[in-house]
Amino acid sequence: MSMRGMDLLTLQELSKRDLERVFELTKELRARVAVGDLPPVLSGKSVAMIFQRPSTRTRISFEVAIRQLGGHPIYLSWEELQLARGETIEDTARVLSRYVDAVVARVSLHSDLEKLAEEAPVPVINALSNRFHPCQVVADLFTMLEHKGYLEGLKVAYVGDGTNVCNTLLVGCTKMGVDISVACPKGYDPDSQAIEWARENAEETGALVEILRDPAKAVEGADVVYTDTFVSMGLEAEREKRLKVFLPKYQVNLELMSKANPDAIFMHCLPAHRGEEVADEVIDGPMSVVFDQAENRLHTQRALLALIV
Ligand code: CP
Repeated sequence: MSMRGMDLLTLQELSKRDLERVFELTKELRARVAVGDLPPVLSGKSVAMIFQRPSTRTRISFEVAIRQLGGHPIYLSWEELQLARGETIEDTARVLSRYVDAVVARVSLHSDLEKLAEEAPVPVINALSNRFHPCQVVADLFTMLEHKGYLEGLKVAYVGDGTNVCNTLLVGCTKMGVDISVACPKGYDPDSQAIEWARENAEETGALVEILRDPAKAVEGADVVYTDTFVSMGLEAEREKRLKVFLPKYQVNLELMSKANPDAIFMHCLPAHRGEEVADEVIDGPMSVVFDQAENRLHTQRALLALIV
């Protein structure tokens, strides 16, 4: 089925075949941009980019990708929109859809994104919500594919907080037949809907899904070790409490990496909090692919835009 015009809110909307098409187009467009031969598929199209939270990678990679494809990105800080003065999400969606061809949105509450998508006839792409980060995980799966040469049968160990990235990895990995073991403290589990979708996907693909407490057990036999911040955006008031819960047990350091497969790679969506969820020796070490991962945000989002908008 075509991805044209679809909303991308959680990643569960995409099939395994859709993701394979995104990866194929990612490679094709990356090769074409290198020789100055990108098709201007967004020519004459405008994309509104609403950001309620700060961003480095997502904002810049989307802006660059839209421009490279001949489109016009419009960065809209939430604070500078009438949203900040109480205009509803629904009215904002109806108005924006009269001007632009797609909306990319980073919001604090996933329910706001759902309202936006419900009311906007144009496609809405999640640029991170409190529950899901689909564009990140598309880039992550592509990075695993590039570094390992295949996806089905790989094992990902996610260590730390059950964040939006962890939720989306559960969905994305299981769709592609990648085993995923999550190790998180009690009370910091991934989203229950994400776990349910992961188990459904795993029934189709045969992937293994585990939610554990012990990081050493999760990384046993892992090809990829992944972590994310212990203090997500908006949770700064819980910082001290969270660091006490997560440290030192859930930090990815050389000792933990040594329990994974010898050729395991380390991944992190960034920004990293060095000395908290990851030690310098890992993120700066030869096993780290975090900057390839960041670069792949641009390549995979170029393909997503070309397929959706
Ligand atoms: N990984 C990620 O989404 O980075 P930004 O918050 O910088 O966009």
